[in-house]
Amino acid sequence: MCRIIAVANQKGGVGKTTTCVNLGIGLARAGKKVLLVEADAQGSLSVSLGIQEPDTLDMTLVQILGKIINEEEIDPEEGIIKHKEGIDFIPANIELAGLETSLVNVMSREQILRLYLEEIKNRYDYILIDCMPSLGMITINALVAADYVLIPVEAAYLPVKVLQQLIKTIGKVHRQLNRKLSILGILLTKVDRRTNFSKDIEKQIREVYGDKVHIFAHCIPMSVRAAETTVEGKSIYAYDPKGIVAEGYRLLTGEVLDDEE
Ligand SMILES: Nc1ncnc2c1ncn2[C@@H]1O[C@H](COP(=O)(O)OP(=O)(O)OP(=O)(O)O)[C@@H](O)[C@H]1O
Ligand SMILES: [Mg+2]
Repeated sequence: MCRIIAVANQKGGVGKTTTCVNLGIGLARAGKKVLLVEADAQGSLSVSLGIQEPDTLDMTLVQILGKIINEEEIDPEEGIIKHKEGIDFIPANIELAGLETSLVNVMSREQILRLYLEEIKNRYDYILIDCMPSLGMITINALVAADYVLIPVEAAYLPVKVLQQLIKTIGKVHRQLNRKLSILGILLTKVDRRTNFSKDIEKQIREVYGDKVHIFAHCIPMSVRAAETTVEGKSIYAYDPKGIVAEGYRLLTGEVLDDEE
């Protein structure tokens, strides 16, 4: 059984891509077969996995979804790149923005990514979808294709409005388009334990959302090491295995695996 997790938050820079990479590679290190799907025209996931110029790629999620839209046959290996740390990924680039605009005229426009993942999901234990910072049609596609949403939240200010809107959208998708969808949890990221500010945000999020939404017990600490891995094209386990961010993602991976049982 494959579990499909959309990593989503319409606020930018909260750690969605970093979480996709390091949870994904964490799960692979635990023996799971993992595919990461970049659903973001910025191409940051591809860059984080060592593709220096995603905009020069000919084969990305855009071409794959184009085939689904045109009902062309899909080769399940096509467009999938293998990363040396044991995961597969599908890159995206700026062309995804164009595809998003053109989806307006497509039949079943919310279902395109789901239709694709249905064809390849039997090859994987986990598929993680790295969403873009918006609640547009590509993100809706991710929520329709997913079984779970993981919501990274930066412990920098209390993101009440953003979270309300996101949870509302997830509820709507659940009711209208995807009855399987549920929230896996809120993950606090960039937590600076030395400041009271960070602690206050953490406490408030637990107070406000704790009884409605699962909040992961472990947080991801703030560290410049996390920012540095992005340019290295490798995971935090390869770049700084003994650091606090690697430890945070190891513990998160454990929590996600525990949830399986
Ligand atoms: N734990 C952390 N500590 C410090 N910096 C971090 C941490 N996690 C991520 N960052 C850095 O913060 C920036 C934003 O992270 P990331 O790209 O993962 O966020 P995002 O939510 O995917 O952003 P976007 O909304 O643009 O897609 C990056 O430069 C990243 O390296
Ligand atoms: Mg991102």
